[in-house]
Amino acid sequence: MAYDKFWNDGDRRRKRRLFFALWPDEKTRAALISAKRMLVEHASGRMTPDDNLHLTLAFLGDVAESDFARVQQIAEPVSETFKLVIDTLEFRRRPRLLWAVPGTIPATLLGLESWLWEQLEDLGVHRERRTYRPHITLARRADFVGEELQPVYWPVKEFVLVESSLGPPHSTYRVAKSWPLR
Ligand code: 2AM
Repeated sequence: MAYDKFWNDGDRRRKRRLFFALWPDEKTRAALISAKRMLVEHASGRMTPDDNLHLTLAFLGDVAESDFARVQQIAEPVSETFKLVIDTLEFRRRPRLLWAVPGTIPATLLGLESWLWEQLEDLGVHRERRTYRPHITLARRADFVGEELQPVYWPVKEFVLVESSLGPPHSTYRVAKSWPLR
């Protein structure tokens, strides 16, 4: 388990499933929902609920209760705001995920992801081994759809820490804290 240093003997039972993410503002979420709905007719599988649409920055997994506060006390970010254009569909054959991705990945986004992991590593969280692939999961257990994605323009002004509670029927997410970008 990657988070050994997080565990203290007294708090093994209570854990929170956490991740950092870009959380769409109202207008961007509406655009993502609309883009997603245009695919609904073509994509079988389970579409992501509207309220759950997000772009993961760093997935921490289960974190002990006592370390939840520490995660929230990371340094203030130095990243500037940036624009994200979500304009491409990507089908991940295994495990049949339908992703919406930015055709061009802004350097600021990659910088923010790296910076975040530096903060987390300072707390003892081991960095993800898999290559970071910024995406928004639109559907799970999907069949490939060759349709074009209606582009979504996302002015990114903040990132958030999210707590996830596993379903059924699906995971629910709660934004625990947000950090504005400069
Ligand atoms: P998602 O729900 O936003 O797609 C744990 O595996 C979580 O990390 C997944 O639920 C997924 O979040 C995200 N994830 C999976 N593979 C990833 C990758 N290559 N880059 C970034 N995030 C990833």
